[in-house]
Amino acid sequence: MGYIDNFNLVLALLVLATCFSFSPVLGMKYLGPNLYAGEVEVYVNNLIAPNILLYNHCKSKENDLGLQKVAYGHNQTWSFRVNFFATTLYWCNMYWFNDMSKSYVQGGFQIYKATRDYDKCDGNCVRNVKREGLCFFNPDQSDIPPKFMFAWPKKSIIGIN
Ligand SMILES: *[C@@H]1O[C@H](CO)[C@@H](O)[C@H](O)[C@H]1NC(C)=O
Repeated sequence: MGYIDNFNLVLALLVLATCFSFSPVLGMKYLGPNLYAGEVEVYVNNLIAPNILLYNHCKSKENDLGLQKVAYGHNQTWSFRVNFFATTLYWCNMYWFNDMSKSYVQGGFQIYKATRDYDKCDGNCVRNVKREGLCFFNPDQSDIPPKFMFAWPKKSIIGIN
């Protein structure tokens, strides 16, 4: 083994050690960026009720998806790669008109957070938006039931445009 080989080995170990120390939450499963390069596809499904439109505005630090209208039974979908230090976070502000209470229901949620979700949906992340709140589901692990993640905030807003 020559000088360069040893140097590269030390460099590789340093990089690995840095990855671990920068992501204590991920524990031993996170082996650095090269082993974690998969695409994540998120689906935000409007399952609130027939004829109810979901207004959805998702963004990350790098990417603003704009305000989207999602019809009942449809979804908004997009894909991305988790960044080097697994700080990738998509936040979505959503609202819809509640035909029962005759008022808008509005909430903001962490729809994809790498440190929370990377081992739960390694590929497809389904977020079912319902009257009660948001359910997270991984269609590739259909033996695991959908998980209720967020209820809508109690306070609703009136007069949103
Ligand atoms: C997304 O919506 C379409 C209908 O618009 C549906 O067929 C499909 O199953 C949905 N995808 C997921 C992953 O929920």
